[in-house]
Amino acid sequence: MQPIEIKKDIFWIGSVDYDHRDFHGYSRSPSGSTYNAYLIKDRKNVIVDTVAAGSVGVMLCRLAKRLDPEKVDYIVCNHMELDHAGALAEIVARVKPEKIFVSQAGLKSLQGYFGDKNWPVQAVKNGETIAIGKRTLVFQETRMLHWPDSMVTYIPEDRLLISNDIFGQNIASSARFSDEFGNDAIYEKRIKEYFYNIVLPYSSAVLKTLPIVESLDIDMIAPDHGLIHRGEKAVRFIIDTYRALAEQKPWQRALIFYDTMWQSTERMAYAACSGLEENGVPTRLMSVKSNHHSDVMTELADCGAVLAGSSTHNNTVLPLMSAVLTYMKGLRPQNRVGGAFGSYGWSGEGPKQLQEHLFAMGMEMPAEPVKCAWRPDKDVLKVCHALGKTVAETLKKKCG
Ligand code: FEO
Repeated sequence: MQPIEIKKDIFWIGSVDYDHRDFHGYSRSPSGSTYNAYLIKDRKNVIVDTVAAGSVGVMLCRLAKRLDPEKVDYIVCNHMELDHAGALAEIVARVKPEKIFVSQAGLKSLQGYFGDKNWPVQAVKNGETIAIGKRTLVFQETRMLHWPDSMVTYIPEDRLLISNDIFGQNIASSARFSDEFGNDAIYEKRIKEYFYNIVLPYSSAVLKTLPIVESLDIDMIAPDHGLIHRGEKAVRFIIDTYRALAEQKPWQRALIFYDTMWQSTERMAYAACSGLEENGVPTRLMSVKSNHHSDVMTELADCGAVLAGSSTHNNTVLPLMSAVLTYMKGLRPQNRVGGAFGSYGWSGEGPKQLQEHLFAMGMEMPAEPVKCAWRPDKDVLKVCHALGKTVAETLKKKCG
């Protein structure tokens, strides 16, 4: 339960939650996550963000190793979602802060969650600075990253940005810094997973925020989830990765996700997959029975084309497909090519509905949906192969 000094007199006092999985429908990575909170020791001692309610004891324990909790003067709440503010009431009761800083929008969420507490809350304006001794806190609003109340805290004297949700990843580990983690592939996958399951709908806000971040002199970004990005190279890497993820330029790769009752739709999926692969588009096939919708979304990060397949069931698509489509639509992927297919027994509405779902997400749909009664014969499989080929050719043109 030791705090970790990340800069001179600035300490990580968060918690590692190896068991946390579900986060409003996003199934966190198999390892769990962290709730990062920070202590800055200066003339005014400051806590930046807190932790989830169940981790309050851990945070207080780490805090007390470096400072008598009653000597904390200020608390900064960059964002009121309860993974960062769930412990706030207990922390406030323990430290009795002189001030609690929130964004203008943070006042509303603070009131919404905690009601009238008579706490010494001060709403800061975008760009407002607070002197705390040798250091200055600079507050920068980052609206919708990830809620309207979100802001980040910049400490110019330490070249440190405490970034709250943005630049995070769901990784639970003993490592506090990305350079200690020892597995670049998993680190990068967790960044994509986090972005595609949380940040993606706000890609335009990311693209507006990145130049502001780049205008700051920074050699460390400390998010509130996962690993801290230490050193200019690591900072450059996470900023560039965020830009690429937010731009959503088309990748020459495809995702087919499907559900099947008696393997007819599955056979169609494999035929479409061949059509894509044999026309230069590597493809990932994902049954939604064996892949969580979060993993389907993560895969989408590297795919410029998306094909959806479902058997028709009770005049509609299979329920797991509906769930994935609803989840995907909410995350608003942009700039994709789509395709739809599926088998049926007697009514056959499924493929058309899939087509409409993908079209409603703004996808370019270069072919009619492919439907097949009962069992696909070789002629139907050829049509599925042709669907894959058409999507591949459209995607390749889009990729230039
Ligand atoms: Fe990590 Fe939006 O909370």
